[in-house]
Amino acid sequence: MIRKITITAGLLFMTGVLAIGQLPVYLDETRPVERRIEDALSRMTLDEKIAVIHAQSKFSSPGVKRLGFPDFWTDDGPHGVRPDVLWDEWVQSGQSNDSCVAFPALTCLAATWNPSMARIYGESLGEEALYRGKSMILGPGVNINRTPLNGRNFEYMGEDPLLASRMVVPYIQGLQSKGVAACVKHYALNNDENNRHQVNVIVSDRALHEIYLPAFKAAITEGKAWGIMGSYNLYQDQHNCHNATLLNKILKEDWKFDGIVVSDWGGCHNTEEAINNGLDLEMGSWTDGLVMGATNAYDKYYMALPYKRLIQQGKYTTRELDEKVRRMLRTFYRTTMRGDRQVGFLCSESHYEAALNIAQEGIVLLKNDPVADPSKGKGARSMVLPIDVTGMKRILIVGENAVKMMTVGGGSSSLKAQKEILPLDGFAALARSLSPGIEVDFARGYVGDTIQSYNGVTVGRSLYDIRPADVLMDEAVRKAREADCVIMFGGLNKSNYQDCEGYDRKEMGLPYGQDELIEALVQANPRFVFVNISGNAVSMPWIDKVPAVVQGWFIGSESGEALASVLTGQVNPSGKLPFTWYSKLEDCGAHALNAYPGVWREGHDIIDEEYKEDIYVGYRWTDRQKKSKPLFAFGHGLSYTTFELGKVRSDRQTMKADDEITFTVSVTNTGSKAGSEVIQLYISDLKSSLPRPVKELKGFNKVYLEPGQTREVSITVDREALSYYDDSLEDWVAEPGAFEALIGTASDKVSSKVRFTLE
Ligand code: BGC
Repeated sequence: MIRKITITAGLLFMTGVLAIGQLPVYLDETRPVERRIEDALSRMTLDEKIAVIHAQSKFSSPGVKRLGFPDFWTDDGPHGVRPDVLWDEWVQSGQSNDSCVAFPALTCLAATWNPSMARIYGESLGEEALYRGKSMILGPGVNINRTPLNGRNFEYMGEDPLLASRMVVPYIQGLQSKGVAACVKHYALNNDENNRHQVNVIVSDRALHEIYLPAFKAAITEGKAWGIMGSYNLYQDQHNCHNATLLNKILKEDWKFDGIVVSDWGGCHNTEEAINNGLDLEMGSWTDGLVMGATNAYDKYYMALPYKRLIQQGKYTTRELDEKVRRMLRTFYRTTMRGDRQVGFLCSESHYEAALNIAQEGIVLLKNDPVADPSKGKGARSMVLPIDVTGMKRILIVGENAVKMMTVGGGSSSLKAQKEILPLDGFAALARSLSPGIEVDFARGYVGDTIQSYNGVTVGRSLYDIRPADVLMDEAVRKAREADCVIMFGGLNKSNYQDCEGYDRKEMGLPYGQDELIEALVQANPRFVFVNISGNAVSMPWIDKVPAVVQGWFIGSESGEALASVLTGQVNPSGKLPFTWYSKLEDCGAHALNAYPGVWREGHDIIDEEYKEDIYVGYRWTDRQKKSKPLFAFGHGLSYTTFELGKVRSDRQTMKADDEITFTVSVTNTGSKAGSEVIQLYISDLKSSLPRPVKELKGFNKVYLEPGQTREVSITVDREALSYYDDSLEDWVAEPGAFEALIGTASDKVSSKVRFTLE
């Protein structure tokens, strides 16, 4: 710490900024940060102030060289540290030290339902970012999964505000504990990728506060995020990067946010709105006539020379500017100017271990039914999973996603992973180590997207296959007949209109003729497992015929190893869905009400999208529509063992406004394998002035149990868990009366409930 001050001060003596024997307040670490900020601010020129609030390159903004503040480097986010691009272009810079560990996508992290995994995620990512010289990671993302068509759902934490809140806080705390700022995104209501710059969201205050804001609020008020990214879309006819209600009122006034609001890249559109409505750092603008940006476009940014001119013309004082600069300086002290700033490390064993553990805990066993097993006698049946490779001679792996790298592609979250273990390789290696001599065969089955490079990162493994679809299917079916067991790795990928930034999916169905292939394979060999790789639900018209289905997400560097360990039972699955898996699109509220993708406003470059389903998103919608059951409910996920829950008890029957109430239930592992179960607490308001969802998740707790072991699990909530947002009062209300606490292991698996009263 002392060394760094000495060096900085030394430089400043040389450049004449300091006189011998004097340590200015802004460099003096013994002084309170706010004092140091004011001191630095008082020394800055107008040009220096204007410079720090907008980009100087694709991912950096300048510090204040004259005073010893280094440049401020940001980078995507959120699943690993993005490879470097050229200073002024999106093209890869071609460095050889910018590969990274690819952590599982955030849907998978959310599916762990384990906040300690989020903490490890954040810490590991922070260490990688430090090594790469980045002071802000553009993530995590917490936009709510409103429709399974959103191309970016894979980067977010599901449909439920409480789950996303509990998972985002430790991610931020872990990341920032390393001195790297989080930039929570995309604030707010950014639920469409198609026309994302034009969509104007019309939503009730109640849905805004109950569904779309809580995870952002938790990120700011509990996680203490140092940065937040304004989203591309509009709300109340105003772009969200300079939105008076979202930024000035809610974020800065109500939540007391003291960090920086960063524009999404190109999300700033207007100098005066940016000055007045809370934007602090403008990044990535495509300025007038400079489509896609051009060299030295930065001076033309809305918060660059146009802003300076308004000050020189006397239209503005530096009052607003100083406030933005203060926030930038505060961010510097939290990151680049920390006395204890560490160097970090890249691609370490501990980071790979974190990536593997998170992936293993996030994989969801969706379905596992027994099938006929002639090897065990006539009429005998046995489970398809876990696959006991020791008793088998030949296993067939089918599907493009068994051999396709998924860390490459999908938009800004694309990575240059130092390694990515593919499912075929991971499975073959594990199977051979468990059962030497076993044959692991492969059939492509279908051809989807053979492009294996993105934004300059090339995989170096060709997926080119010109055989027609029927030939590929015939080959797979023939091989399936001869195998002891068939695993197909299919699903989506990161191509446009699959799971990809900038494009929503066009339909919920599986692409590339996979449905036909699945039907043919399961007919050829009933011992069949479908592993779905995606960040979104896909429709499964064949579900009644397929005995075993696993949700494998996009899980990064260790994907092959993680999937193989779950499929073979080395790891007992414990992931739970962070969103409702509808059977069909019309079962989702936004689609049932024709409230997606909105309508073009006549004569304007704006699409009005009214969130007609209001607060009824995900299970809140399906719970109400008693007719349509989801294919897999929110919170669903099976295990290779069985758990039994006792009857839930509460520590009181009535609670006063300031009380907490604790619910306790015993959980026993009644099977023969060790495993973890997620105990979920839902609250139901039995009578209220405003209509409320049938139930809402208000707490959860993941417990690990050895076979036969029993543990008591407690979940405590307070009045907040009973409250709704009342539009007319503009406040949260916990209405006295009767409530029910429902305890279960999925939103459709409530095992017991207990009543209580709020006085
Ligand atoms: C994305 C952001 C990303 C930024 C920088 C934008 O297009 O929406 O999520 O952080 O680019 O790459």
